[in-house]
Amino acid sequence: MPKRHLITCALPYANGPIHIGHIAGCFLPSDIHHRYLKMKGLDVLFVCGTDEHGVPITLNAKKENKSPQQVVNENHAIIAKSLSKFGIQFDRFSRTTNQLHHETAQDFFKTLHENNVFKKITSEQFYDQEAKQFLADRYIIGTCPNCSYENAYGDQCEQCGRTSNPKELLNPKSVLTGNKPVLKETTNWYLPLDSIQEEFLDDWVNNQKDRWKSNVYGQCKSWLNDGLKPRAMTRDLDWGVNVPIQNANNKVMYVWFDAPIGYITATKEVAGDQWTKWWKDSETEITHFLGKDNIVFHTIIFPAMLHAHGGFNLPTNVPANEFLNLEGNKISTSRNHAIWLHEYLKEFPDKTDELRYVINSILPETKDADFTWKDYQAKVNNELVAILGNFVNRVIILTHKYFNGKIPDGNLDSLPDFSAKITAALDQFNQRQGLEAFMEIARYGNKYLQDTAPWKLIKDDDNQQNVADCILTCLHVVHQIGLFGQIFLPDTSHKILKNLNLKSYEDKIAIGHNIGESKLLFEKVEDDVIERQIIKLNQKTPINTFSQEQNNQPLKPMIQYDDFVKLDIRVATITAAEKVKKTDRLLHITLDIGTETREVVSGIAEHFAPEDIIGKQVTYLANLAPRTLKGIESNGMILMAENVDGSLRFVSPDEQTKPGSIIS
Ligand code: MF3
Ligand code: ZN
Repeated sequence: MPKRHLITCALPYANGPIHIGHIAGCFLPSDIHHRYLKMKGLDVLFVCGTDEHGVPITLNAKKENKSPQQVVNENHAIIAKSLSKFGIQFDRFSRTTNQLHHETAQDFFKTLHENNVFKKITSEQFYDQEAKQFLADRYIIGTCPNCSYENAYGDQCEQCGRTSNPKELLNPKSVLTGNKPVLKETTNWYLPLDSIQEEFLDDWVNNQKDRWKSNVYGQCKSWLNDGLKPRAMTRDLDWGVNVPIQNANNKVMYVWFDAPIGYITATKEVAGDQWTKWWKDSETEITHFLGKDNIVFHTIIFPAMLHAHGGFNLPTNVPANEFLNLEGNKISTSRNHAIWLHEYLKEFPDKTDELRYVINSILPETKDADFTWKDYQAKVNNELVAILGNFVNRVIILTHKYFNGKIPDGNLDSLPDFSAKITAALDQFNQRQGLEAFMEIARYGNKYLQDTAPWKLIKDDDNQQNVADCILTCLHVVHQIGLFGQIFLPDTSHKILKNLNLKSYEDKIAIGHNIGESKLLFEKVEDDVIERQIIKLNQKTPINTFSQEQNNQPLKPMIQYDDFVKLDIRVATITAAEKVKKTDRLLHITLDIGTETREVVSGIAEHFAPEDIIGKQVTYLANLAPRTLKGIESNGMILMAENVDGSLRFVSPDEQTKPGSIIS
């Protein structure tokens, strides 16, 4: 066993609050592991913080008319508060905009530079001549070469999912000005992952085969098998950590370069000069917790950086989880299909353990998992209330009833070794199994109490000692639930301590000790509470999409009346609508335009259910040349208004109007 354990949890982006997907990905697993190691009495440090650089934050700031610093300040506050309320016990929750972080990242960069690690590569990048600025991929939108979606980002098309290079977009436009960007040469500093792979990564990763989870090892190997390429560690941007070398004045570090160094910063902030013992001492193990989209950064890029720097320990384990879905669909922040932690905490005060329990029981350890409100209700009612809460409550009440609240003088019946199973599971990062082993304590207690039935024994004078033995044994089981509850259900564990009237779990169940009052640990979740949540989920409109840059776009150039009259715009009524198979965005819509019916393919499926729009009157551009989308010929276009929050509205006449009526 190493002397020390450093546990890190992936730094959440400070461009929005966090939701249950983040919790299942890394916050809960890292917190459970940290609590487990602490309970074993090990020397542990647990760090995290917010990741506050990167392009999406600058876009968000622009959209909200704020400075990036303002955006990250607000989000950091919301995230830090909700995590602490949720009982995630970081030793330090830092920020990558902290001065110390900038210094730490710059020192790191300088060392790599001095070690001649970087390769300087000059390439052509898009540049906005009016804004006088190079454009990060997310600052460029254009038509996707694959599916013709017109608002595809430079790096990825949200409609068809294709990742691409901004140079492949048709009609590229700068998000800043709407102008067509030009190509201009720029030089950046690259981490030569290709040579680091050969010299170090291949062997190092191969050696992790038996230790890392197979999903992590597998993903990492597949990157390596494809062959790594040099990756730029600097960017032409003005939001980030400044690159501390000559001739790089206008550049900042790639956000994935500085973010993992945030773990080091956070360690320095809490340990001061002692930070090196957590990063450089061979007796310390590092464990990174993260979601599967972060695997490559923690198994390849950050280790490559640490190796190239020299002197640092490499991670011992990287127990990444897969994704959590919600009610059968992917969690989506842009469509607001999510359960936000700060909202949950507000709407379900004092119910943190309920959420911890349910997420713990479905952690996506080996494959994606699904959270549903009905399952939440069932698990709270049938497991927490009916098994755990009920057992503890009965024991406390019976102790008061039969022994005036004093722990009786009895003989302890033999109990199974509950800790062995829990430990075996948690050592392997099998936290779902760990929770099951924990619940077995309560199940055991319930069965023991039911089988022994002290309420029958008490009626017989000869059995008084058996009653005392039974209650004493049950109180020990309650103590064990509370003890291991420190790992899985911290609030509940605390309440049990109160029930038992103990100061800490070091205190044992002592004969003659007065226990506390019985207080219910959990209450039943009623149907209406769950129904309200399901309705809320279905009603949500997007709050946080990036597809809104159009709203900031300057007005288009002047046109003449002659240009306008070329457009044939009419009122139409939707008579039929269905989803286009194998797409998330497209609806196939049939329109009555008075003189005939028209078929249109419209990218609004994420905003409207087909059955809800039938009968709607819309504004229809009738003479747009036909286009074929997913094999369907689309004639004309339904005009939509995009609200500032990214939600869509039909533009309808304010009273029923005959289909085909001319709009001019
Ligand atoms: N901000 C990233 C995300 O949310 C994670 C950064 S992890 C770190 O996906 F290692 F870079 F810190
Ligand atoms: Zn596309």
